[in-house]
Amino acid sequence: MDSLWNEDKPVLQVDAGDMFGRRNKNDRFQAEFLCDVCGDFGVDAIGLGEMDLNYGLDFLRKMIDENGLPFTNANVRDLATGELILPEYLIVEKNGIRFGIISVLDPLYKIVTMAAKDPELEVNDPVTVLRELVPRVREEADTILLLAHVGDRNAEELVKEVKGIDMCVIGHSFRSLNTERIIEDSALMCATREGQFIGKADLFVDDGDGQLMAFDIEIVDMDGSKDESEEVLARVAKFKKDLQEFQQAKRAAFPRDLGSDKESFLVDRSCMGCHEDAWQVYAQSAHRKAFATLRNKGQQNEPECLSCHTTGYRYKNGYADERPFNYLINVQCEACHGYGTEHNRDGKWAQQAKDSCVICHDKENSPDFDYATYWEKIKH
Ligand code: HEC
Ligand code: HEC
Ligand code: HEC
Ligand code: HEC
Repeated sequence: MDSLWNEDKPVLQVDAGDMFGRRNKNDRFQAEFLCDVCGDFGVDAIGLGEMDLNYGLDFLRKMIDENGLPFTNANVRDLATGELILPEYLIVEKNGIRFGIISVLDPLYKIVTMAAKDPELEVNDPVTVLRELVPRVREEADTILLLAHVGDRNAEELVKEVKGIDMCVIGHSFRSLNTERIIEDSALMCATREGQFIGKADLFVDDGDGQLMAFDIEIVDMDGSKDESEEVLARVAKFKKDLQEFQQAKRAAFPRDLGSDKESFLVDRSCMGCHEDAWQVYAQSAHRKAFATLRNKGQQNEPECLSCHTTGYRYKNGYADERPFNYLINVQCEACHGYGTEHNRDGKWAQQAKDSCVICHDKENSPDFDYATYWEKIKH
């Protein structure tokens, strides 16, 4: 980034939102690192994306406070108080020109948080909000910059419907805009995603009234061809080490100390040939989807979830994310029956599976569990 901004011109650095990752603890750990680095880079404004609420409002506020992050948003409110959750807009002065920076979030993007208790939020209609706000900000600013966390199509609609936006940086889009695009006097810009591209716009602003006269866009691929900063590289290396330790600590909370090294799980398909009827029931059951359930929630790396949504997680030779143990996803036959290598035909082996249910179907995760009714659904 230093090499991009080295032309001795004032630089305004903005981000249109979705800085945070998915809703799991590894990504949250990474978000803390990103916030730390972004704080040091001196970003001037960050628009709110729905992902930025993935770990809850308290977490976002903590990151803002600890790292001085200039998050802004004009249309997300705490439903109970009616207050905006972030500063309504920002005024940033560069070279004597006052930029009024506003951000809106598309109400259709679902806000789902990992936090146990969060205020209920409402997201107001962006057009209504901007029509009222833009003229108000214009009184304090020379140039109006919109961070539109609404995707590219909606951003084009927005600048058509709301007058007075000089420039619009688009968030929540998967398509970089490589060429200059002007709609109704608004310049649009978009660089996607996950830090892979950085959009650079040279702005030519009228000395007198601060009006945007022209702009010139370049999408820079951060493919590693640029010189790396030694300082940032060192921080990334440290972060990776910290992340590993973090993961190990989580893993250590669920030691693989049950069972025996000498026994193995043989995987569900190995039972299929001899137990066709049991297989049919199992194949239709929710147990066979238990891992997909975690994946849908982005939680497939969380030990505290894996312990019940995989086979033998706490056991020696049980589920792990490397081969061959990664075949033990889902609640397979052996999650209830035990190691296949202990296969027995004495009648007791089947019986003991009855005791397995409540290890996973505990009060917290399966409050309605009742052996008779639940067994009825998977009996074989
Ligand atoms: C290793 C953990 C584990 C064990 C042992 C286990 N279950 Fe489950 N069970 C789950 C999980 C996880 C789900 C949810 C799967 C999903 O939908 O992702 C589930 C779902 C179910 C469902 C579907 C519930 C529904 O409403 O559709 C039934 C029925 C069920 N289990 C019965 C049993 C019975 C009976 C036993 C004991 C014989 C048992 N389970 C043992 C983890 C377990
Ligand atoms: C102690 C065991 C246990 C743990 C730990 C556990 N689950 Fe489950 N989970 C279950 C059982 C059992 C069910 C089925 C409940 C029922 O239907 O009665 C279930 C059901 C679910 C369902 C509903 C599935 C559906 O489609 O209806 C989701 C989602 C889920 N779990 C996610 C998670 C996540 C995410 C974690 C980690 C934060 C987790 N679980 C940790 C045992 C567990
Ligand atoms: C959710 C736990 C669970 C899963 C998963 C499960 N079983 Fe069972 N299974 C049981 C229980 C409990 C019994 C004993 C029921 C009884 O005797 O009342 C049983 C009984 C059996 C029996 C004895 C049936 C009989 O007629 O006596 C066989 C064989 C069997 N299971 C095979 C399998 C195979 C093969 C799979 C996988 C394809 C499988 N089970 C998956 C819990 C499970
Ligand atoms: C080579 C064939 C074969 C394979 C493979 C096989 N079984 Fe069996 N299993 C049998 C036979 C035969 C019996 C006794 C008759 C019966 O109950 O169906 C039996 C019995 C069982 C029983 C009842 C045990 C008891 O208490 O008497 C269970 C439970 C069971 N098998 C589960 C499994 C599971 C789980 C797997 C996969 C890990 C598996 N079997 C793989 C042939 C097989």
